[in-house]
Amino acid sequence: MNDVILARALHVLGVVIWIGGVAMATMVVLPAVRRGDLGNDRMRSFQAIEHRFIWIARTAVLVVGLSGLYMIVRLDIWDRFHMAAFWWMHAMVIVWLIFAFVLFIGEPFILHRFFPQWAHKQPDTAFAALHRVHWVLLGLSVITILGAVAGVHGWSLF
Ligand code: HEM
Repeated sequence: MNDVILARALHVLGVVIWIGGVAMATMVVLPAVRRGDLGNDRMRSFQAIEHRFIWIARTAVLVVGLSGLYMIVRLDIWDRFHMAAFWWMHAMVIVWLIFAFVLFIGEPFILHRFFPQWAHKQPDTAFAALHRVHWVLLGLSVITILGAVAGVHGWSLF
C-alpha cells in the first residue's frame, strides 16, 4: 500500500501548488494588475506572471490527474461514481476537466488569440471578466477540496 500512500502525497502536493497558485492569482495578483500597481501596461504585467505560472499549473494538473487515477485503479473504487454520497469524487473529476481544458486548450488557443485585443480595447471590462472567471474556478476548487478531505475522513452529507 506504500504506492497508494505515495500517490496520495503527490496528489495533495499537486493540489496545493496548483490551487494555491490560483488563489494567489485571484486574491493578490489580479487585483494588483487591475489597479495598475504593477505598471500601466496591465496586459504585460499580467502575462509576465501568467507565463511563468502556466507550466507549473500544467505539470501539477498532470500529477494530480495521474495520481488520482492510480488511486482509483489500485483501490478499485470505481463504484463510488454511482453514489451521491461521493459527490466529491465527481467534483474532483469535473474541476480537473475544466482546468485541463482551460490550461491546455483555452489558454493557448483562446486567451492568447482574443484576450489581448479585448484588453487593448476595453481593459477594465476584460480584466474584470478575467478576474470573475478566476473567482468562479477558485470557488469550485475550494468546495471540492473541503468535500474531498472531509469525505476521505468519513464525513458524509447523505
Ligand atoms: C482526474 C482527477 C482526479 C481524480 C481521479 C482524483 C482521485 C482521487 C482519489 C482516488 C482520492 C483518494 C480517495 C480516498 O482515499 O478515499 C483523492 C483524494 C483527494 N483529492 Fe482528488 N482526484 C482528482 C482531482 C482532484 C482535484 C482537481 C482536487 C482539488 C481541487 C482534488 C483534491 C483531493 C483531495 C484534497 C483529496 C483528499 C486527500 C486526503 O485528505 O487524503 N483531487 N482524489
